[in-house]
Amino acid sequence: MTQVNLLQLSKAYSSADTYAVHNLTLEIASGQITALLGPSGCGKTTTLKMIAGLLRPTQGDITFDGQSVLGIPAERRGAVMVFQNYLLFPYMSVGENVGFGLKMRGVDQQTIRRKVAEILDLVKLSGFEDRRPKQLSGGQQQRVALARALIVEPKVLLLDEPLSNLDAHLRDEMRELILNIQRQLRITTIFVTHDQEEAVVLADKIALMFDGELQQFDRPNAFYKRPISVRAARFFGGVNFVDGVKRGERVETPLGIFHVNRQEIPDGPVVITIRPENLKLGEEGENAIQGRIRSHVYLGTHARFKVEAGQWHLEVVAEASSVEQFHDGEILSLKFPRENIWLVPTEK
Ligand SMILES: Nc1ncnc2c1ncn2[C@@H]1O[C@H](COP(=O)(O)OP(=O)(O)O)[C@@H](O)[C@H]1O
Ligand SMILES: [Mg+2]
Repeated sequence: MTQVNLLQLSKAYSSADTYAVHNLTLEIASGQITALLGPSGCGKTTTLKMIAGLLRPTQGDITFDGQSVLGIPAERRGAVMVFQNYLLFPYMSVGENVGFGLKMRGVDQQTIRRKVAEILDLVKLSGFEDRRPKQLSGGQQQRVALARALIVEPKVLLLDEPLSNLDAHLRDEMRELILNIQRQLRITTIFVTHDQEEAVVLADKIALMFDGELQQFDRPNAFYKRPISVRAARFFGGVNFVDGVKRGERVETPLGIFHVNRQEIPDGPVVITIRPENLKLGEEGENAIQGRIRSHVYLGTHARFKVEAGQWHLEVVAEASSVEQFHDGEILSLKFPRENIWLVPTEK
């Protein structure tokens, strides 16, 4: 079990460059799965490589269980990285690929063979020892790469976009496999993804990064319920934002006054956010406004409506049968239940 701390970690690839990672401070709990999530180029792989010891930070520190690891070279650090494109040795068999780390450590042949068999069983590739990487599917190569990393019993497992090169069906399988293995071994796991859904289903905690900086570090559901900014909310599929001015538990907006629950955000300009599934079409009462249905799509299990209110276009997710009840062009009431309203600061 290893806790990983990043302390004001920064990386600039050259002195002329802007920071690829800037002032990143994170406490990554022992034995959990943490996702580094963010759009392409936000510094996720750079962060992972610094933890692995493959890149030297420009500033800041990395500790494993409170001890700085910056002076420890990659091969002795105990953090192994599985790359996005697997990087298997093409001329080695699967068995040789997986056993490589043990061979480098001078472990005897018999032990290597036994451990390779064990670990291949764990990744569900028993009997594949003699194949070459090119005789495997992408998903299988991915599992070989994972086995190769796990066999050295690392303290920290680092996975770079583990699911993004796989098609949807294999992705589900791999997701299950990673979760199962992680639960069995309880190895501190950090994985990188640009896909919010992948982060939500796999991670205990998510570090959302934009432009090399940490935006929010939280449990998955917090990004839906309590996003820290409009940008964070948008990254998690948030679409409804109404500008207003907060005074205590009231927010004045061009759509009317909304009553909100107490929240730690200063009075003044704010943005009201609410998830599409929490807006109530056709309901009256507190925080109900008038809107006109612009369009809708029927999605079998539910329906999605676009509702125009003043200068805003709001999206509402409602139950499937609501398409029989509500019609395009109709003007009706739309309720913002106070417990589902979340306020974020206005972006500069
Ligand atoms: N070897 C490198 N030399 C210079 N700049 C790099 C290098 N690798 C990555 N970068 C830059 O650093 C930033 C972060 O990259 P990266 O960590 O790969 O992002 P992500 O993995 O989130 O897509 C990007 O602007 C990228 O262009
Ligand atoms: Mg990357």
